[in-house]
This record gives sequence, structure tokens and C-alpha cells, in this order.
Amino acid sequence: MNRRKKGVAILGSTGSIGRQTLEVIESFKDIFEVVALTANRNIDLIYEQIKKYRPKYFYVASEEFRYEIEVDGVEFRTQKEIIMSDEVDLVVVGIPGFDSLEPVYESVRCGKKVAVASKEAILCGGKVIFSIAESTKAKILPIDSEHSSLWRIIDKYGKDNIKKVYITASGGPFLNLPKEELEKVKIEDALKHPVWSMGKKITIDSASLMNKAFEVIEASYLFGIPSDIVSVKIHPEAIVHSAVEYKDGTTIMSAHFPDMRIPILYSMLYGDDFEIPFQTPPIWDKPLRFYDPDVEKFPAILFGWRCAEYPMPVVLVSADDVAVELFLENRIKFTDITKIIDETLSYFENYSRSINVDTIEDVFDLSKEAKNRALNIAQKFF
Ligand SMILES: NC(=O)c1ccc[n+]([C@@H]2O[C@H](COP(=O)([O-])OP(=O)(O)OC[C@H]3O[C@@H](n4cnc5c(N)ncnc54)[C@H](OP(=O)(O)O)[C@@H]3O)[C@@H](O)[C@H]2O)c1
Repeated sequence: MNRRKKGVAILGSTGSIGRQTLEVIESFKDIFEVVALTANRNIDLIYEQIKKYRPKYFYVASEEFRYEIEVDGVEFRTQKEIIMSDEVDLVVVGIPGFDSLEPVYESVRCGKKVAVASKEAILCGGKVIFSIAESTKAKILPIDSEHSSLWRIIDKYGKDNIKKVYITASGGPFLNLPKEELEKVKIEDALKHPVWSMGKKITIDSASLMNKAFEVIEASYLFGIPSDIVSVKIHPEAIVHSAVEYKDGTTIMSAHFPDMRIPILYSMLYGDDFEIPFQTPPIWDKPLRFYDPDVEKFPAILFGWRCAEYPMPVVLVSADDVAVELFLENRIKFTDITKIIDETLSYFENYSRSINVDTIEDVFDLSKEAKNRALNIAQKFF
């Protein structure tokens, strides 16, 4: 039988998630077809990818560069046109920060399957995207390794009798650095992640443990569980990605070698049996350690519980976008990131209950306000 292949649009194809998605598609060419590729400004790489994978469409966010690409038979389309295209069955989103919200929202609105690496979109979309997904029958499929592994456990063992949910954190590059020295760390130190090779934004978020704060909220929203039953364990080996403790006394852990191609494949092939088409090193060679995070050294992790109630994640993500960019521009210290976010949150917390966020336009307005406020607060750290 000649079955149509699943058309995939990879948003952020030049990034870490995007490149690994293309790698896994290479091994499943009989199932998937690359229909569209998008990037922001890495023209050289997207041009190479377009020549190699021959998608039907491409999009480049940066207007400065988008006119530099010309390949016969491959057409420029806006991000929205790509998502809406009938040829696209699955949208993979690997765009960092608040910018990931719009494509996830559009995918959900069109009732598509959307594999989401961009946790920021889940946090900012919150109840808005989940309620639309219910009516359009869109499927939001997590790629984050912790949530992918939780999904596997909860799918199999259910969520009625959950007592506690654990997500793990490798601890980042400063796990063993004395607290007093954090103030002096340089950009290049913060970009050296001990386990994962990822884009700059998530690598900085992992160094401050902000990434785990995001993931606590992500787990709560994706699985409809209260954030206060989600807990974080530092696990430097990054082999166990999550665990669920059930009321009957059993704890189910989910483990695999830290290779993002595994959760990417799981989201893309969800529902089908498959065998990974690559080798991973054994997971039994090292002792596995688990301990509690040092919240005095990494206070950002506490934002995960403090901001779990919607729409506070919109403020959290937006303030973090601003603060991380300022750090990467060398305008503030590493420890200022958390201070700027903390002050921005306090400002909005004073009236968050009266903020109405019911539509995507409300989310954009709130994010803009939060970014302006964070930038204002940041001035005193320059
Ligand atoms: N990398 C991982 O292992 C990993 C694991 C779990 C979750 N995630 C999440 O996945 C997301 C992507 O992470 P990453 O590490 O893949 O980031 P990355 O390596 O920095 O790649 C980002 C991609 O998005 C594109 N992009 C950036 N801004 C854009 C915009 N405004 N519009 C359209 N495209 C844009 C970039 O294009 P250019 O290359 O042209 O700039 C690039 O293709 C983040 O939310 C992260 O938290 C990543």
C-alpha cells in the first residue's frame, strides 16, 4: 500500500533541537518527509539544509537575511502559512524564549500535532493553548526529556494515584562552585554545560537552574497536576529523567542515556512501536546520585512554585528573556539575572489576580509589559 508520508515542519531547524530532529528523520525517511524548515539568521546553515532536504517551504525570521536564499522549487512562506499548510501534519518547535509561543499557538489553533521542545510556549500559552487544543483536537507532544519520560510513566501507570512527581537536574556547570564565586562567573563559564550541548538561552537557564523552575510549571500544565507535588532532585549523571511516586509505595523511574534524539523520536512517533536507529553508551557504568538542590545558591529554582499560577509564568518567561539577553551582552552579572526576575515578579504579584489573560492578545500584552518592566529594573545593575 502506498501511504502518504507524514509532512514535518521544523521551526528552528538550525538549532540544537532542529538539527537533531533532522538527524532522526534521516533514519525514518519512509515515515517522514521534511516539508518546511525555518531559522532566524543562520543563513549559511539553513541554505545547506534546504539543499540537502529539499523542503517545499522555508522561512527566515530576520528580515535582514531572508532575501539571501534562492533555491529552485523551494518557496518562502510565512511561519503562519507553513503551519496552516495541509502538507504539514506535524510541527516541531525548537525556538527559544517567548518567541516560541506564536507558532505553538498557531499549530494548536489549526488542530495540528505539535512536538514542543520550547517549554516557554507551554508556560506562556497556559490555559489559553490548552483550552483551544481541546476544541481543535490538537495534540501537544512534549520533547523536554523530563516531560517526555514523565509522559511515558503517566501514560502507562495513570495519574489517579500519584503522590509525588520528580524531575531531575544535572545541576549545570556551577553545581560545585562555592556560592560566593557565582557573582564573578563569565559568559563562557556559564555556557559550558557538563552534559547537554544546547542553544545559549537554555544553557544559561540551566546554569541558574531557572530551567528547572520552568520545568516544574511545564509538568504541572502538561499533566494537569498541582505544582506542589512536583519536586526536583539534582542528579549529575542525567540518566534518570523523572520519577513518579504512587500512593501504593512504588516509585517508577524513567531512564535513558542523555541523548535528545530519544525524546524527539518519542514525540514524533508517539503511539507507534519503534527501535532507536543509533547506539547509546551503557547507563550502568557509574553510580547514580540524587540530592536536593541548594536553593540558597540557586534561588531561581523557587520561581517554579512561586509562579505556577497562570498568568505569572508569562511574567517569569518574559523577564528571563530580557535578563539572559543582558547577561549574554555582558551588561549584567550572572547573579543579577535572578535579582532582576525577582523584582519584576514582585511588581506583578501585587496585582496579578486582577490581570485578565484570556486570549493570545492578552498574553502578548502582558509579556510586553513584563519585558519593559524587567528592562527598567535592570538599569540599576548596568
Ligand atoms: N537543546 C536541547 O537539548 C533542548 C532540550 C530541551 C528543551 N530545549 C528547548 O528547545 C528550545 C530550543 O532550544 P535549542 O537548544 O535548540 O536552541 P538553539 O540551538 O539556540 O536554536 C534555536 C533555533 O531557533 C531559531 N530561532 C531563534 N529565534 C527565532 C525566532 N524569533 N523565530 C524563528 N526562529 C528562531 C534559531 O535560528 P538561528 O540559528 O538562525 O538563530 C535556531 O534555529 C528552547 O526552548 C529550549 O529550552 C532544548
